[in-house]
Amino acid sequence: MDFDKKLDREGTYCAKWDCLEEYFGRDDVLPMWVADSDWKTSEAIIEALQERVKHGAFGYSKSCEDHDDAVVDWVGRRYDWNIDPEWIVYTNGITSSLSVAVRTFSDLGDSVVIQPPVYFPFFSLVENSGRRVLENRLKYDGSGYRMDFDDLRSKFCPEDDRLADRTSIMILCSPHNPVGRVWSRDELERVVDLALEHDVMVLSDEIFSDYIFEGKHTPFSSISEEVNSMTLITPAKSFNIAGLKMGVAIIPDEGVRKRFQNARDLLVKEPNVLALTAMKAAYEEGDEWMDAQIDYLDGNKEYALEFIEDIPGVHAVEPEGTFLLWMDFSGLGMEADELNDLILNEAKVALIDGSKFGGDGFMRMNFACPRDTLKEGLERIKRAVVSLSSDS
Ligand SMILES: Cc1ncc(COP(=O)(O)O)c(C=O)c1O
Repeated sequence: MDFDKKLDREGTYCAKWDCLEEYFGRDDVLPMWVADSDWKTSEAIIEALQERVKHGAFGYSKSCEDHDDAVVDWVGRRYDWNIDPEWIVYTNGITSSLSVAVRTFSDLGDSVVIQPPVYFPFFSLVENSGRRVLENRLKYDGSGYRMDFDDLRSKFCPEDDRLADRTSIMILCSPHNPVGRVWSRDELERVVDLALEHDVMVLSDEIFSDYIFEGKHTPFSSISEEVNSMTLITPAKSFNIAGLKMGVAIIPDEGVRKRFQNARDLLVKEPNVLALTAMKAAYEEGDEWMDAQIDYLDGNKEYALEFIEDIPGVHAVEPEGTFLLWMDFSGLGMEADELNDLILNEAKVALIDGSKFGGDGFMRMNFACPRDTLKEGLERIKRAVVSLSSDS
């Protein structure tokens, strides 16, 4: 559990480190973009995978009761949610699960509500499924974000029926990527009430559910079994095993679950055998490792927030969860191209342009890296920003 130790990830088919040239047009920049962590997963997972690999046969596999028990216990311990093992459907990831659900539970031309600034594949997965994106933008008050419930109500029930045939689905991001909100129970209850009132299904992407700095994560489907919903979790992000591809859909309603399962069987199937092996080890033996990781990330978060206070014209939104820093550069008064050029070509740091998420003037930084790497990235950004005033 040495999170300070630098790990060379180059040459491992690693998207974050090996694809810089492809995505940014140069490979001499510090990668702080893709949302995975720059450390090894837990020893328990590595050992479980080694054992399984040693066995040597990799024929068709199938999840079983052991996996269900591991999920039920993790969800019970970590989120205080008692679930029936019957509610679980395994998939090969969260985005694929969302795509399958959007195609299964809405009709062509229906509207799907999302809350920008938000994980940008939500836009394309909705549009590529022949549905329309309806934006219920989060409200920013200059320091943090909250939901706009009046607007949400109007999006659930659009008055202009040329706008949409029907709003059938909302994709919730909880905790929220990129703004780092951990939605309170009260906020989630208000979403439940509106979804019930307007018969909207809620797909809750909870990929960051294990990354909570304070308080507890509330799974959306734990609030009410009346509301039509599914909660999507995974150990993939939490244990840095996203390359293995896995997702866990928790769906209390039997009819909804069966329809989702049928669509899953045709389109994405179950996770592969190594993913199942890693998931079981993560959920059975991962608590201590996960807690240590959160402690380390909390230190990184505090370090970054303090550091950024001294960068003129830059503000970071304090994340309540995730390992993402949503940085507001609007104080610099730059156009998007200029800002991108500053960060990439002057600071030589690869961040994700906030406008992709629907947040112009912002950038997203991943701080799941050794503290020295974080310091290096922040110092590079500070130098580039400070040089702006000395240039002028
Ligand atoms: C909010 C959110 N959902 C989904 C994903 C991707 O999930 P998967 O790799 O399981 O498709 C990410 C990855 O960064 C994410 O941040």
